[in-house]
Amino acid sequence: MKVTVVGAGAVGATCADNIARREIAEELVILDIKEGFAEGKALDIMQTASLSGFDTRVKGVTNDYAATAGSDVVVITSGMPRKPGMTREELIGTNARIVESVCKSILEHSPNAIIVVISNPMDTMTYLALKSTGLAKNRIIGMGGILDSARFKCYLQKELNCSPNDLQATVIGGHGDTTMIPLTRLATLNGTPVSNMLSEESLKKVAADTMVGGATLTRLLGTSAWYAPGAAAAELVESIVRNQKKVFPCCVALDGEYGQKDICLGVPVVVGSKGWEKIIDFKLNEEETASFNKSAEAVRNMNAVLDTLVAS
Ligand code: 2OP
Repeated sequence: MKVTVVGAGAVGATCADNIARREIAEELVILDIKEGFAEGKALDIMQTASLSGFDTRVKGVTNDYAATAGSDVVVITSGMPRKPGMTREELIGTNARIVESVCKSILEHSPNAIIVVISNPMDTMTYLALKSTGLAKNRIIGMGGILDSARFKCYLQKELNCSPNDLQATVIGGHGDTTMIPLTRLATLNGTPVSNMLSEESLKKVAADTMVGGATLTRLLGTSAWYAPGAAAAELVESIVRNQKKVFPCCVALDGEYGQKDICLGVPVVVGSKGWEKIIDFKLNEEETASFNKSAEAVRNMNAVLDTLVAS
């Protein structure tokens, strides 16, 4: 299988490094517009091949979409990352035109690709990818919820002093500091609700820390995070490439599910070789439904800004 990562910045390169090391694809192309940058990242990753023991062929190109031809999956990480104090939504003016142009170039060479969107504001960029490509909705997947759920598990792990791998915890809704919804009611430790082990106050703090997990790292690092976003994207790519049918919270087009239409928002979906294949109804309670609708309203407002920025 062939995978392309567009954007050789920290997130894109980390995603590529994960894909290469785990041999998720036989052929991996990294593309960037900065002369030589993707070539350098690809060469650096290839120089770990004999150390990490992988046979993935990694190639870097500068704005050469012909080299991406025939990709089965394309991951879009291009655009500006946020700086400390910024919201993801503030990136829309810069990133919308970049993502629209990248989608057009991808489709010219990989008409059958499944597109994974990471560029922020991710929910709106996913909606833009869907509208500008006109692809079937199951082939456009925004990656945010997998990352947010990993952060949710990290904060739960600290509170419970347990293995993060024994935790099931899902974040749905938008991928924004105020739009994501950590589902504390449904979080479990090996099948038992974590609410049996943590006070309501502690659970509220875990949820609050999760929601600003990205902003916390941006403040500490001076730029957006990359290890967890890159690894989360690789997980999603693997479930597509290996047809694993894993259930992930992903930003996908809703057509009535969870009470929403004409929007891309984070819900639990089955991910396989066709892209996202089925939306799972977590049967939200009244409070969760209200939060989901509030999240949808915020994302819809961001989507409305697109009309002033891009052609499609
Ligand atoms: C994050 O939350 C980049 O949006 C990504 O770190």
